[in-house]
Amino acid sequence: MFRLLSEALGVEALNIDASQPQEDHVIASLVAALDQHGIVLMRGQTLSPDEHIAFSRRFGPLQEVAQKQYQMPGKPLVYVIGNVVENGRAVADPSVGRLWHSDQSFLQHPALGSILYGLECPPVGADTLFANSYAAYEALPPDRQVYLEGLRAVHSFADYYEGLRRRDATQPMLTSERKALYPDVVHPLVRQNPRTRRKAIYYNPGYVTQILGVSDEESQLLMRELADHCTRPQFVYAHEWRAGDVVMWDNLGVAHKGTPFDTEHYIRRMHRTTIAGNADVYRASLLQ
Ligand code: OGA
Ligand code: MN
Repeated sequence: MFRLLSEALGVEALNIDASQPQEDHVIASLVAALDQHGIVLMRGQTLSPDEHIAFSRRFGPLQEVAQKQYQMPGKPLVYVIGNVVENGRAVADPSVGRLWHSDQSFLQHPALGSILYGLECPPVGADTLFANSYAAYEALPPDRQVYLEGLRAVHSFADYYEGLRRRDATQPMLTSERKALYPDVVHPLVRQNPRTRRKAIYYNPGYVTQILGVSDEESQLLMRELADHCTRPQFVYAHEWRAGDVVMWDNLGVAHKGTPFDTEHYIRRMHRTTIAGNADVYRASLLQ
């Protein structure tokens, strides 16, 4: 059973206990809901890291994130997010996703989805914003759709990381080894959902540095235009977290962004798993 979260996107799946093994038809209905609505919320969950991993694996093989220092000790598939400090060390990523982005778009085969679980959530602030990139594509005039379909964008982990370090000096320097692990990649500006074939604008201010095939000036203009267009209020849902919420999202059809909160007064602690991309699904997301 599902309930819509907003006009823009998102549904809540009722009566799911994600700590328990799930029947195949339940997983299939969650995948269908993700395809149709972009994000799925399940409230009132209590998940150990192993249960979170087991539930997430039902959607495909998982992947470790690039930010190794924030992987859970002994459970590298769990990415810890928030402002948690233990023994004087930040054990959670304090500055995740503050620009609109799609997870791991800097990989050749970006993550298919992410499953974020809120353990401690501030009563105000720290909403996560989600934008419907399918609706953003569909709202464009046909000639603009055709124009964007012919363009590709450079996604850069190194450039993102430099920006992050400018905002948060506690982040360690990017070593040349890590930089070499994540060379810049190119993705088309329009991709399609491999199952429904619905087209989405795959644009990502957090990681995109340049649009190829146009002048630098046009690239800058287009990046600004897309950033504005894709995040218009009618495409956006703001999730106000409660402890026990689990939100899954489709990384192709939805962009997202974290928002600030009062870190002096509140603790935020989140666990995320990441569903790995692969060459077959990526190929099927390319327009023919
Ligand atoms: C993420 C992310 C934003 C947030 O988990 O990928 O971008 O609000 N999170 O925690
Ligand atoms: Mn993210």
